[in-house]
Amino acid sequence: MSSLHPHTFLVAPGGRLHGSVRVPGDKSISHRAIMLGAIAEGTTHIAGFLEGEDSLATLNAFRQMGVHIEGPHQGRVTVQGVGLHGLQAPSAPLNLGNSGTSMRLLAGLLAGQAFDVVMTGDDSLSRRPMRRVTEPLRQMGARIDTTEKGTPPLHIHGGTRLKAIDYAMPMASAQVKSCLLLAGLYAQDGLTTCVTEPAPTRDHTERMLKGFGYPVTNKSGKACVSSGHRLTATAIDVPADISSAAFFMVGASIAEGSDLTLEHVGINPTRTGVINILRLMGANIEILREREIGGEPVADIRVRASRLRGVVIPRDQVPLAIDEFPALFIAAACAEGETVLAGAEELRVKESDRIQVMADGLLALGVDARPTPDGMIIRGGGLSGGRINSHGDHRIAMAFAMAALRANDPISIDDCANVATSFPGFIALARDAGLDISAVIDVTGVEHSFLTPGSV
Ligand code: S3P
Repeated sequence: MSSLHPHTFLVAPGGRLHGSVRVPGDKSISHRAIMLGAIAEGTTHIAGFLEGEDSLATLNAFRQMGVHIEGPHQGRVTVQGVGLHGLQAPSAPLNLGNSGTSMRLLAGLLAGQAFDVVMTGDDSLSRRPMRRVTEPLRQMGARIDTTEKGTPPLHIHGGTRLKAIDYAMPMASAQVKSCLLLAGLYAQDGLTTCVTEPAPTRDHTERMLKGFGYPVTNKSGKACVSSGHRLTATAIDVPADISSAAFFMVGASIAEGSDLTLEHVGINPTRTGVINILRLMGANIEILREREIGGEPVADIRVRASRLRGVVIPRDQVPLAIDEFPALFIAAACAEGETVLAGAEELRVKESDRIQVMADGLLALGVDARPTPDGMIIRGGGLSGGRINSHGDHRIAMAFAMAALRANDPISIDDCANVATSFPGFIALARDAGLDISAVIDVTGVEHSFLTPGSV
């Protein structure tokens, strides 16, 4: 990844968020648009593509497998689909950087190819559990090696005829579900692969497969695909990412006098846990101009400051807000009373251990935050300033940037380079909205210089 990324964010205390902003494209949908476009027949045109490092890792992986892809140019990408059986063996390992979604979904898509592939990642991805996909893929007959701990690199041995399975997922994971549905496209003899989820998870794969003309059934938490059909190229308009919008929803809710509109945000009901939880806490959130674009619901979201109160987070909202807890913990720290989260042990195996890293950061700001094995108990109150280590986790960095809106003193956040994985241009956009944030980059290893906001 480029050495010109800012390493440290400096955020001045106070301020408010106002105006209208459009955050970058949805990461989950951007990954899937490249993957399905690549194995479709014909040319797929994508608009609003997230030009972040994670979705670019997926794009580059398909280029390495012989797919001709133009762009991205201002969010526009053209993918010349090669059909289900047109991918070619890459000449080198696929390096997927920080992106768990790329690795887990590709594991399914590549398990039934004729060729071998090795997939690697950065330090964080190299620590993340992959057995959740390799075990069910093995049940389908795939041959995949991991380290002894079940972590990357993954070595997928090609030339295997996959069997269909009917799999009950032990955890609510859209990545596992999507991995198995993609593998199911390659099962032999038109057989049907089904995945049952213990709780609803994001359904972009199912929606987008249908958008490419591929039949999918989805009833009572069970999604099924049969092999033997084909994908037909289409046009995809990627909405703004609700997971990126979430930082601004929390910022506008906690900063007195804020009135901010987030434009063209994807509000797929499998992603709106953050809105439901914030509203339960007393947030003032209006959904405006609701519309449907390419099979995904989209709206503008107006958020005005309000007094938040602590809540017990309903368990059924956890998978629907799984990426938004760093931001929600900041909301809880600014709320009156106690917020209790349980049933969220998945947070421990994200880009960082988000329970521990968030609790450490909140404690550094003087917040009463008690981590539990599967969640956190936070007593709202004042925030001091302080120094936070984001542990290279993009969402932790952005969550603490918003915390400064309610802090008494400046907050500095270390190890922020990975914000570029999901939110290129975060600093400039946050400044436009009213956050007093700047980035410091370690150029020489000794000196520090300030970047202009537009450069990040
Ligand atoms: C994603 C699913 C979620 C989420 C991740 C993206 C996806 O992971 O945390 O950022 O695009 O399918 P899990 O499905 O493992 O919870």
